[in-house]
Amino acid sequence: MSERAKMQTEVPMIELNNGVMIPQFGLGVWKMTDGDEVETAVLAALETGYRLIDTAAVYGNEAGVGAAIRKSGIPRDEIFVTTKLWNSDQGRENVRAAFTASLKRLGLEYIDLYLIHWPVPAKGLYVETWQELERLYEEGKVRAIGVSNFLPEHLDNLLTSSIVTPAVNQIELHPKFPQNELRDYCANKNIHIESWSPIGGSRGNLLAEPILKRIGDSYGKTPAQVVIRWHIQNGLIVIPKSSNPDRIVQNIDVFDFALTDDDMSQIDSLATGERQGPNPTSMNNN
Ligand code: A2P
Repeated sequence: MSERAKMQTEVPMIELNNGVMIPQFGLGVWKMTDGDEVETAVLAALETGYRLIDTAAVYGNEAGVGAAIRKSGIPRDEIFVTTKLWNSDQGRENVRAAFTASLKRLGLEYIDLYLIHWPVPAKGLYVETWQELERLYEEGKVRAIGVSNFLPEHLDNLLTSSIVTPAVNQIELHPKFPQNELRDYCANKNIHIESWSPIGGSRGNLLAEPILKRIGDSYGKTPAQVVIRWHIQNGLIVIPKSSNPDRIVQNIDVFDFALTDDDMSQIDSLATGERQGPNPTSMNNN
């Protein structure tokens, strides 16, 4: 088996609550500029065996993601594409146009997973927005629908007035901010968690923690690989961002070792409960 094919078979698939299968590991493209940067990164990732690409309308790079997918020559149905509805497009009358614009920029016929990017509670529109996502889902334009940055109070409101349970909730999650309560809540509702900023983003200095280096050294792995492996062993779907070809290869190379229970609890001990990113209760950017 070639290295590339081997890598591909090593990424586990997770079954979402509607039966759709999603790779447990993929590439996040937040902060990548459209054009060369995102195209090069997505193409490198696909060539390395990544099959999940996570973008969003607000990232401004859907066109480059689509171009890289086409350039790769990989059949569309072997790649899982996620994009997200931006805050200013919430509301019954806006969703369909926003979705169609994303599809067009990506140059795709359908999306695998479409998410509401933030609840924006100040607007009070996420329930009716969700009902529009349900229509897109019923029409077969998206294979699964979900949310991002939703807290239990927002999910409770959704679930009482909707038919479809979100397939995923994509949230900030890393060892310093492990979100244990929200994970329990979502597990009870059969909503899968996807971790954004999984290696702590650029701000938290997570990767400089000596524990991670110590554990990594014992397996010949980097701190980033240890953290990605921690997500995998926690059953989380994980989408580290990298535009660097070497780190793109490094980040997927986490399926040939396993952390022990002791390693896992040492990593758990890094929890501070502090977010790096915005708080969903007050994130109202348009
Ligand atoms: P770069 O794109 O130059 O590789 P997160 O996905 O948690 O938000 O983290 C993204 C940040 O971590 C980016 O700044 C990215 O930079 C960096 N990064 C990605 N992979 C690695 C790695 N294996 N080691 C160190 N830094 C990494």
